[in-house]
Amino acid sequence: MRKQELEQALDAREQALARATRSPSGVDLTMPGRAQWTGGLHLVTQVVDEICGIFKELGFTRAVGPEAETEWYNFYSLNFPKDHPALDAQDSFYLGGDILLRTHTSPVQVRTLEHYPPPVRVVIPGQVYRRDPFDASHAPMFEQIEGLVVDEGVSFVDLKATLSAFARKFFTADTPVRFRPSFFPFTEPSAEMDVRCQICKGRGCAVCKQTGWMEILGSGMVHPAVLQNVKLDPERYTGFAFGMGPQRIALVRHGIPDIRLLFESDMRFLSQFAGPIR
Ligand code: DAH
Repeated sequence: MRKQELEQALDAREQALARATRSPSGVDLTMPGRAQWTGGLHLVTQVVDEICGIFKELGFTRAVGPEAETEWYNFYSLNFPKDHPALDAQDSFYLGGDILLRTHTSPVQVRTLEHYPPPVRVVIPGQVYRRDPFDASHAPMFEQIEGLVVDEGVSFVDLKATLSAFARKFFTADTPVRFRPSFFPFTEPSAEMDVRCQICKGRGCAVCKQTGWMEILGSGMVHPAVLQNVKLDPERYTGFAFGMGPQRIALVRHGIPDIRLLFESDMRFLSQFAGPIR
């Protein structure tokens, strides 16, 4: 008897619930709602902001410059010789006459020094363009961050200390760094900075091509010719500059195998790195 009463009560309740939740359209109103889709910052934007944030703590301000440049700013003001291969139309995107899409952010060094007297400490993020194939490690348009310091008495020690401090802050406090001699027309001496491979921690892997090191930036002491081009006396002022590719840095930090993924709108990839909304 009690069992029958219970069964009847359950049936009645079940029917009442079924009636209540079935809307005339047949939609099940008890289904959970769809989550509101929210946007976020792209992985590369997050890395650019993080890098600029570290330099901000070191006293740098953020500057920008135009993406369409003249040959003067892009090359000659930076001490490139007239016959440098980068000036070839094969390698750069010319827009007509002597205007081209900038091939690096270094011209903004000159533009900054034309507008602001030393002491100058700036980081300059932005897009640059080169006639490169779109493959796993190249893109015809990519991101750079330029850095520039000009003041009285700036030395190579300041360069090494600043860039090492940056690497230890961005990667880990115990990340070893090394500087290798290099060449850029607008710096003398010039050096490339490597950090201990973040993937294999120096043991050797495919990402670091078994070297245990990853190259992350080019740098050097500002060439006297560049200072003279902005009417600064190289006997009084010295400085250092650097340039890095935040996309490459994002790839090595996360072990992402292909730069093309950073240009995709595939949410399955992007949502893994969903960043805060600015
Ligand atoms: N502009 C160089 C490039 O695109 C990168 C670079 C190297 C920038 C050394 C610098 C520097 O400021 O000092 O490859």
